[in-house]
Amino acid sequence: KTIRLADYKPPGFSIPRISLVISLDRHETRVKATLDCVRQDVTAASIRLDGSAHMRLAGLAVDGRPVAESLYDLDVDGLSLKNVPDHFTLTIDTVLDPAANTRLEGLYLSEGCFCTQCEAEGFRHITFFPDRPDILSLYDVRIEASREHCPVLLSNGNRVESGMLPGGRHYAVWRDPFPKPCYLFALVAGDLECLSERFVTRSGRPVDLHLYAKPHDIGQCGHALASLKRAMRWDEDVFGLEYDLDVYNIVAVSDFNMGAMENKSLNIFNTKFVLAAAETATDRDFDNVEGVIGHEYFHNWTGNRITCRDWFQLSLKEGLTVFRDQEFSSDMGSRALKRLDDVRLLRTIQFPEDSGPLAHPVRPDSYVEINNFYTATVYNKGAEVIRMMRHLIGTEAFQAGMALYIERHDGQAVTCEDFVRTMEDAGGRDLTQFRLWYAQSGTPHLDIRRSRDETGMTVLEVVQSCPPTPGQPVKEPFHMPLLMDWLPRNASDRSAPRLVDGTGQRLEQGFLLELRKPVERFVFADVPVDAVPSLLRGFSAPVILKTDVSLDDLSFLARHDDDAFVRFEAAQTLGRKTVLDRMHDVPVGSGEAGQALLAFFTHLLSGPLEDAALTAELLSLPGETEIGDAVDALDPVRLHRAREAVLNTLAANDAELLQASYTEYRDRQTPDLSSEAKAIRRLSGLLLSYVARLEGGAGYVGEHYRRAFTMTERMAALVEAAHIPDHAADGGGGGTTDLLDDFYRRYEEYPLVIDKWFAVQAQSRRGDTLQRICKLKEHPAFTLHNPNRVRAVFTTFSMANPACFHTGDGSGYELLAETIMEVDPINPQVAARLVAPLGRWRRLEPTRQKLMRAALERILSCKSISSDVKELVQKSLQA
Ligand code: ARG
Ligand code: ZN
Repeated sequence: KTIRLADYKPPGFSIPRISLVISLDRHETRVKATLDCVRQDVTAASIRLDGSAHMRLAGLAVDGRPVAESLYDLDVDGLSLKNVPDHFTLTIDTVLDPAANTRLEGLYLSEGCFCTQCEAEGFRHITFFPDRPDILSLYDVRIEASREHCPVLLSNGNRVESGMLPGGRHYAVWRDPFPKPCYLFALVAGDLECLSERFVTRSGRPVDLHLYAKPHDIGQCGHALASLKRAMRWDEDVFGLEYDLDVYNIVAVSDFNMGAMENKSLNIFNTKFVLAAAETATDRDFDNVEGVIGHEYFHNWTGNRITCRDWFQLSLKEGLTVFRDQEFSSDMGSRALKRLDDVRLLRTIQFPEDSGPLAHPVRPDSYVEINNFYTATVYNKGAEVIRMMRHLIGTEAFQAGMALYIERHDGQAVTCEDFVRTMEDAGGRDLTQFRLWYAQSGTPHLDIRRSRDETGMTVLEVVQSCPPTPGQPVKEPFHMPLLMDWLPRNASDRSAPRLVDGTGQRLEQGFLLELRKPVERFVFADVPVDAVPSLLRGFSAPVILKTDVSLDDLSFLARHDDDAFVRFEAAQTLGRKTVLDRMHDVPVGSGEAGQALLAFFTHLLSGPLEDAALTAELLSLPGETEIGDAVDALDPVRLHRAREAVLNTLAANDAELLQASYTEYRDRQTPDLSSEAKAIRRLSGLLLSYVARLEGGAGYVGEHYRRAFTMTERMAALVEAAHIPDHAADGGGGGTTDLLDDFYRRYEEYPLVIDKWFAVQAQSRRGDTLQRICKLKEHPAFTLHNPNRVRAVFTTFSMANPACFHTGDGSGYELLAETIMEVDPINPQVAARLVAPLGRWRRLEPTRQKLMRAALERILSCKSISSDVKELVQKSLQA
């Protein structure tokens, strides 16, 4: 069944209060819900409650009187009650089996701990309820459970009562003073340990912070708790937003469909985004924990206090909250590097999504299964849309707009339109055309050319276009900010270019040009003849850029631009061109791009390396997925070989310099978490990936592994070790099997580390990787029930190992299809998230197209397939 934005209707009844009595049992949990129902729409004769086949209705009463069976209709996805009064109390008894819940939505068990996941539509699996975000209610929750198995009982808000019950049971009552949509309801009950701290808000409210985890995990929770305090302070400092309750609880569980969930005052997290210790987590893991802890905390205002009217507005809270967590991470670490990470994520995940069969606007206009729309488009492109608005109206107006948004809409369930209108009012600017970013899918392309006219003026011509996407054959032009500048070739050149025609202004970071029409012309005076255009500074808009900048200019930008993105992009462009040339049989050393790239590498490696982390970025080639996204009739194996050849040539060409820098940086490593230490680890890991390609490379890998103090170093070595075929391992002990076995034994007790062990093997360049993945699937530590484990093997293999996924005989596609069909009956949400790589067939050469389509057809022919998987497979097959 397709749900459409155009069909939105306000709810017929409001439910200002709900009380829940939940008596927990592994197989027979009883839920008594008491709903205060008030008619809002006089034409609404009956009330509709969502429900599910996974719970049993055990009692239904209106104002205390049981409802006769003839007065309600019960079906597979809910019930309707006819002829109800204007104001009544509805009592519903349901019975659930949490132990049988492998879908991990609603109420389920993770390692013996009861927990919930209600966003988007999980609450309907706990009780019958109008499960939509525009119904805000006050919650009163009584939890009863075994004292022995569940000493900790948690829900939203404040604990107002607790006590003993007969039969070894106890109870706690929680009351949340803020009305909330049911997707923010949460409950946790289990045997958990707790790490606590106190935070005092700037207006003096003391807040108790508690982080709950399994006893063996609690030692790794310090970083998450410290991150939470930083996030709370940051939101006060930057947005003036304070926490609004006396307690903030976070619970870490191992079985979780997504990253984490912002339930009011009771966040539930995937352990992957909580646990971090230097011996078991990489620097990236540390950063991810900080970012996700921040993200969920920031939702308290952008998501919880102000929520979504309906799920089409998901980006209202997610795009905005991702933008906020990006800003937080930028302020905590390096702004330039954070931006590069975000650009990479867009290009490797969001751009392919936006050019494929699953493309959808930031605000979709229809869906079958809302869980399929928790996408990079809604989240990350949504964040780019917010960022562009800030560029267009200016930071000051944007900050005022945020304050106005909170003031206007606190306590409401609103739309993306409400947000844009607020920014329009705060900025005093018309954003009518800008709104297309919410409605149109597809990544815009910019084609930029410069010329000199007869009067000596420099002209920049910008042509924008956007390819067709499903349901949207023709696009209107977007309104977007293009940040650019002119870089003089000669550093002592003091000329100051001026914009004399075209909409834009001079800012500190460059010229902010505004694009609105399909073709825009900007005329500049006083641009030095040899100045190089520095375009799309800071990646000011999520577009694919094509320019007439020469290889010579790219080499210049890669060396001298003061904007990290433009520097990075210039280097990436040299890399991309070299790989594509090589794929068309141009040897690296004889193509012009290849020569420029080789020279750039030698230049970087022989000069003093000022910024280790940025240098690591500049020395990386773009990934295969990213390069392949621009190639028609792609043969991914051919592309892989070309890229490998370029990497090998780069390594051989600068062998001595690489070995010298590698040894220098490896020896400069210190085990701490300062940004300098992290930068050095990043660079030494990257350099290792080059020296591993040289003769004796396995020796370097083995030594790097043995000397490792931190998981970052250990993983850098393990990733390389996993690429080395058994027979090629030399006496240095860099052998794949040795190191992998050692790693497994060391970390057997740490599931998140064992996920890494699975992932490096799924990512291996070895020729026998596909067979090894089939074996890994049979490994005693592998399970289809744990989402992290499934993703460690199958998301990695299908998204991060193109050469192996795209083997010429289609066996990679078959393995993925088979796995999807196995996971689906266990957990449809996780199964659906594995489908996307199979939708990329249009890009491929004809043989693989056929094989990939066949894999999709096979899934579709499976009778019991979930609506989650079906929606994506059907869309993927559409021509
Ligand atoms: N709101 C959560 C977050 O981004 C994501 C939860 C989505 N869960 C789901 N099953 N769709 O922080
Ligand atoms: Zn979120």
